[in-house]
Amino acid sequence: MDFAGWLLLADLMHEDVERVLITEEVIEKRLGVIAKKIQRDFASEEQLQVVGILKGALVFMADLLRRVPLRLEIECLNVASYHGGIESTGRVDFLDQKLPEVKGRCVLLIDDILDTGQTLEAVSRRLIKMGAREVKTCVLLTKDKPRATEVEADYSAFKIEAEFVVGYGLDYGGRYRNLPYVGVLKPNVIK
Ligand code: IMP
Ligand code: MG
Repeated sequence: MDFAGWLLLADLMHEDVERVLITEEVIEKRLGVIAKKIQRDFASEEQLQVVGILKGALVFMADLLRRVPLRLEIECLNVASYHGGIESTGRVDFLDQKLPEVKGRCVLLIDDILDTGQTLEAVSRRLIKMGAREVKTCVLLTKDKPRATEVEADYSAFKIEAEFVVGYGLDYGGRYRNLPYVGVLKPNVIK
């Protein structure tokens, strides 16, 4: 069988998606706007340290930061709060042995989504404790719901309803991060 024939038979992840919430084209346009804001706001910053929260921020930060022509430095840190389900557990685990060096620096913290707010809150607090001069936060999505802690993102690309979404970095059970759009899964896919 040729490649095209094989593709038609393959069980593609798109089949698990009930509806597309934010298309690739819309994301792309919005990233341009956010990138310009970041470029303008941090233009005078000599040592802008970007810290991305893995793995959710991976796709978003790669696309966003290529549009920001500042001399920034990129670090990542690994944090878990969902532990595979569709509800935040409220427990934020730092999975790295060593955290990025941020002493005296201005940090732009990037995550995929602001949900209960506990992740951004816990990581910001930790970075400040480690000596960061200032921490600004940036997310692709903000869920429209009350937060467990008083935290809002300084930069947010889209506001969405309080429902479980996947794609563009966001996963369900480790999958769907590579969907090029943000979407909602079919109910039968979620166990
Ligand atoms: P928070 O600490 O409750 O704000 O949750 C933030 C983390 O939960 C994000 O970094 C995501 O990894 C995960 N998360 C929250 N909502 C969703 C969702 O709708 N889909 C997939 N992951 C989510
Ligand atoms: Mg995450």
